[in-house]
Amino acid sequence: MFEAKATAGLSKAETYRELTTQLTGLLTGERHGLANAANTAALLFSGLRDLNWAGFYFLRGGELVLGPFQGKVACVRLTLGRGVCGTAAQRRETIIVPDVEKFPGHVACDHASRSEIVVPLIQEGKLAGVLDLDSPVLARFDAADAAGLEALAAIFLRHSDLRQLAD
Ligand code: SME
Repeated sequence: MFEAKATAGLSKAETYRELTTQLTGLLTGERHGLANAANTAALLFSGLRDLNWAGFYFLRGGELVLGPFQGKVACVRLTLGRGVCGTAAQRRETIIVPDVEKFPGHVACDHASRSEIVVPLIQEGKLAGVLDLDSPVLARFDAADAAGLEALAAIFLRHSDLRQLAD
């Protein structure tokens, strides 16, 4: 049985190191994309401070469709090129938004969200979706979060068969 170790009290760098170890342990030997996405969202939501949402959108039929997440109910379909998720997906680059109210086209799912980070998921050269984290704290995410979350997204991608989730 996997047991998540507490990350409270750790520095940001230590937290991401710990989450990297935990996620690798959690996903090793399992390739089911839906199950792995659900466990990844749960690990991030419980292991990172000051979040009100953590989860996935997967690219299906040219739009981003809601995947496993933790937090309040969210918008189901997002348009490529619009909002934070759609922009990160289209540009295929991580986007950090220190203040969501200042991001043109930001899609407000939970009005408690003040800042956001979105990491694109690229598997075998193809855009599969995005990993999205929201915080009720302004400027919650920085370059260390981007690097840490990109490393965690890479572990998720390496271990997961996404053929039933993304096309
Ligand atoms: N804020 C996102 C939408 C997804 S929710 O935050 C879960 C956006 O602007 O794309």
